[in-house]
Amino acid sequence: MLKDVEEVVFSEAQIQERIKKLCEEIADAYEKKPVLLVGILKGCLFFMADLMRKLDIPVAIDFISVSSYGPSTEKTGAVKILKDLDTPIQDKHVLIIEDVVDTGLTLGYLLRNLKERSPASLQVCSLLDKPDYRIVGIPLQFKGFELGKKFVVGYGLDYQGKYRHLPFIASLKKEICPL
Ligand code: IMP
Repeated sequence: MLKDVEEVVFSEAQIQERIKKLCEEIADAYEKKPVLLVGILKGCLFFMADLMRKLDIPVAIDFISVSSYGPSTEKTGAVKILKDLDTPIQDKHVLIIEDVVDTGLTLGYLLRNLKERSPASLQVCSLLDKPDYRIVGIPLQFKGFELGKKFVVGYGLDYQGKYRHLPFIASLKKEICPL
């Protein structure tokens, strides 16, 4: 696996340091109000776990899983819910935890869907933001890092189901991942 890595883009230490700051921003914004963290599977795995352990406000968690819209050449925006939330979100402060916002199609769909369930508030926290690829405008209240035109793996992010377990975020060699 390590032999496939081209370059470490964000190290373990950089990620943890950024998450600490992000947690302070989130705690300040919510002023001790209880928050429901809604993780988007599966990429949110490590980010959600690390974030919630550093967050000094009352939190509950839930998860949602959506199908992607297909290969990057097919940006149709068709997203399907594969696993819905376990609990209603009416009157709750909901913070969506996402690994990366790229085109914004996935989150655009989810935001519309969750808004209809009448939460008290609905905000987004994404570890990575790739603004250069954006098709749908997304209000991104909290973000870890901005990234240029790069495809990355590790720390929950995959390429063809692999590399999620890497403890850092990295780009892959071109012969492994041509994206
Ligand atoms: P969007 O709908 O284009 O914003 O895409 C969001 C989803 O695409 C993310 O939740 C990831 O699953 C996937 N994705 C986008 N960019 C990357 C990347 O650089 N590495 C791994 N997955 C990515």
